[in-house]
Amino acid sequence: MDQSNTASVSSSNSVSESIPPRADFFKVCDFNFYYGKKQALYHVNMEIPARQVTAFIGPSGCGKSTLLRNFNRMNELIDGIRHEGDILLNGRSIFDKTIEVIALRRSIGMVFQKSNPFPKSIYENIVYSMRIAGVNTKSVLDETVERSLRGAALWDEAKDRLHDSALGLSGGQMQRLCIARAIANRPEVLLMDEPCSALDPIATAKVEDLIHELKKEFTIVIVTHNMQQATRCSDKTAFFYLGKLIEFDVTQKIFSNPAEKQTEDYITGRFG
Ligand SMILES: Nc1ncnc2c1ncn2[C@@H]1O[C@H](COP(=O)(O)OP(=O)(O)O)[C@@H](O)[C@H]1O
Ligand SMILES: [Mg+2]
Repeated sequence: MDQSNTASVSSSNSVSESIPPRADFFKVCDFNFYYGKKQALYHVNMEIPARQVTAFIGPSGCGKSTLLRNFNRMNELIDGIRHEGDILLNGRSIFDKTIEVIALRRSIGMVFQKSNPFPKSIYENIVYSMRIAGVNTKSVLDETVERSLRGAALWDEAKDRLHDSALGLSGGQMQRLCIARAIANRPEVLLMDEPCSALDPIATAKVEDLIHELKKEFTIVIVTHNMQQATRCSDKTAFFYLGKLIEFDVTQKIFSNPAEKQTEDYITGRFG
């Protein structure tokens, strides 16, 4: 992990100054996860580096989304779940009794497979959670909308139609709007669960370019079915199979010289 890089980002960016320097952002410690009697994750250990892109790959049903949804405790919305082990965010357990789940979810933005804009204007989609938190100062909301849309590379396309319905956007624009909404709260982490699976190649390329830009500011974890996408946009790749983390390494290493036979079989298309 390049500590000097992290430090220089922090000192040049006032937003980051309050965030202590960190080597490992998420640390997953011997994590088991169950939906009722069904175990979905087995003894997962990994460290997700800050301000890099980490890709989760593996065949359908291997637990990628389950692990992702644990990072912001989204799985807790499901009945009958339980876990063993721990997940640390900046050294602190996200399951600690003093952690406020709402604040945790606010500090971790999430983008889903299918874009899910609210049936409201582009503007209101982005300020929605601020309005819920009681923020109604127009200048603050305006600033957030512009910053978030610029961050999501959608400003130029949307600036003249901010008060039109978000549902009139193209699929690729809607997904970038959902990214804008996810970064509006200035989260520390951005979780993306197959964000391009419903997009055409041009819209996918735009989102991938955006991921490159966003990692300067955010720690990104992306689940993807698309191995080319993992190669193009991630720094590290984790391969999961049947609920186990089989291999986790620098992306180039995973795709050129994996250590495990199961990884090799998967990336060469022998199963999955
Ligand atoms: N809400 C749920 N209730 C019960 N089982 C689930 C639920 N969500 C996922 N699972 C099961 O957990 C396993 C891992 O699923 P998931 O994390 O969605 O895999 P992936 O994202 O890698 O396709 C699968 O066997 C799936 O059927
Ligand atoms: Mg999934």
